[in-house]
Amino acid sequence: MAERGPVRLAVLVSGNGTNLQAIMDHIASGEINATIVCVVSNRQDAFALERAEKHGIPAIALESGAYANRREYDAALVEILRNHGAQLVVLAGFMRILTDVMVTAYPHAIMNIHPALLPAFPGLHAQKQALDHGVRFAGCTVHFVDCGTDTGPIILQAVVPVREDDTEESLSARIQHEEHRIYPEAVRLFCAGKICVDGRRVRLSP
Ligand code: GAR
Repeated sequence: MAERGPVRLAVLVSGNGTNLQAIMDHIASGEINATIVCVVSNRQDAFALERAEKHGIPAIALESGAYANRREYDAALVEILRNHGAQLVVLAGFMRILTDVMVTAYPHAIMNIHPALLPAFPGLHAQKQALDHGVRFAGCTVHFVDCGTDTGPIILQAVVPVREDDTEESLSARIQHEEHRIYPEAVRLFCAGKICVDGRRVRLSP
């Protein structure tokens, strides 16, 4: 069988970029068969852009101010991603809801990580929602992106306990530790051709 070439990834970010870093590290160590063709941020000041530049990856700020609405912004985003030949789009702390313009351009080829055990606690401040609700277990979810908010088919999840003395910060740190494990793993599976979407079920090949 012909060997698959590296998958061309685009990573979208808004902030610190620790998940971007974890994915870059797994590519550098040869565990993920991929190359990051660009990192795009909706915020010029995102530290994630510096991380990308340090790795010699094109780092692009695409701020929303110049666009009339979210669909126009997404059209500009699709153009950038297509120009770079992206095959998989990885949302790594990208704090914008995508419209149908992006979702239809990359069907089942946009992944997101969310700091909760979906379908519980979608949207903003998921860790605070979990604490306020009083759950005993929290966690994170990697899923494909559809037109809803954190509603797409689930690829991987990890569970962490909630401790009596947890704050939003301490719980977030415990969840992030797991994010840095399961997000590279989900990207690795995709790049190895081991993910198949069957309605809402995501089937993983051994
Ligand atoms: C991550 O914890 C991720 O789960 C969350 O943003 C953080 C980004 O951290 N994403 C969302 O809340 C999306 N709804 P990072 O910039 O260090 O990777």
